[in-house]
Parts: sequence; structure tokens; C-alpha cells
Amino acid sequence: MRLSTITAVALAFTATVASAQTKYPTDVTFEDGAIAASLSGTPGDPANGQVLMNKGAGNCIACHEVTALAELPFHGGIGPMLDGAADRWTEADLRGIVADAKVMFPESMMPSFYKISGFVRPGDAYTGKAIDPDAITPLLSAQEIEDVVSFLMTLRDE
Ligand code: HEC
Repeated sequence: MRLSTITAVALAFTATVASAQTKYPTDVTFEDGAIAASLSGTPGDPANGQVLMNKGAGNCIACHEVTALAELPFHGGIGPMLDGAADRWTEADLRGIVADAKVMFPESMMPSFYKISGFVRPGDAYTGKAIDPDAITPLLSAQEIEDVVSFLMTLRDE
């Protein structure tokens, strides 16, 4: 009895610590399109960020050209070239752009990668049914955003 109480308290404490680190999409504060604080509380991994540029929900290079990723096929030209992005923007700017580009560029066609609310008629394109708003997850996790931002911070014009 006593032991299980201690365990429950310890578990509750662990859960609190974990959720205090990660900012949920609806808790994020933008300032001039930028997000000052890390979304995950854990530094980004640029190597994983580089993988996400070309994979899954990220797929940044469908729209953006990046010389550092020139060996990958099918670079898009819809968005600006990302070379030198770290010279043009601060880390906070890049975090804001990747999380929700429409805050920085209101008419942007760039997807909002860390957003779960404010969509117009969210639905399941396959079934045509409205989706449960609680079931919406962001395209990239908090840590994936940090990883992509840390990769973008390596893009400097020499
Ligand atoms: C559907 C196309 C599309 C996709 C996919 C896309 N973007 Fe963009 N992005 C744009 C457009 C268009 C702009 C220019 C801003 C605007 O809309 O006015 C932009 C702007 C940017 C900028 C600022 C450009 C600069 O250097 O001045 C960054 C950084 C950026 N995107 C990063 C990313 C990253 C990282 C991803 C993937 C996680 C991504 N984008 C996915 C279309 C896209």
C-alpha cells in the first residue's frame, strides 16, 4: 500500500516534468513570427533534421532547394532557396517559420508543421468524414521541429 503510493507519486512527478519540457502547439507564443524558446527543452539534432528535410511529413525539399542536399532528387522551386537561411534569420525566427510559417508570412502556402487548431473544416480526405479535433496531431513533433531548426542553423553562406 505504502510502496504503491510512493510509486504513484513518483510517476505523477515524472509525468509533470516531461510535460513541462514540451510545449504543446496550442501553448506556443509567437513574437513577430518567431518562437524564442525551444519547443522540446532538448537541443536539436542537425543530422536527424537533415533526414526530416527529405522525409515523411517534413519533405521541405519538395518546395525548397538546398545546396547541402543537392545529391537528393526532385528539388522544388516553390519556396525560396534555403542556402544562407541562418544568415537571414535567427534561430527563433526559423523555429517560428517551421512551426507555423503563416504567422511570419500570412499568405504562405508553406504547411504549418506544429499546429493542431484553427484549420478550416479539418477532415479525413480518404473517408470524407469530419475528424475529431482531439485526434489532430502536428505534422512534426516538438523535437522534430528542433531537429529541423538545428539543421537550418548550419546553412550559412561562406
Ligand atoms: C508547399 C511548399 C513548401 C513546403 C513543403 C515547405 N515550404 Fe518553406 N516556404 C515555402 C514558401 C512559398 C516560402 C516563402 C514564404 C512565403 O510564403 O512568402 C517558404 C519559406 C521558408 C523559409 C524562409 C525562407 C528564407 O530563407 O528566407 C524557411 C526557412 C523555410 N520555408 C523552411 C522550410 C522547412 C524547414 C520545411 C520543411 C519542414 C519547409 N519550409 C516546407 C514553401 C514551402
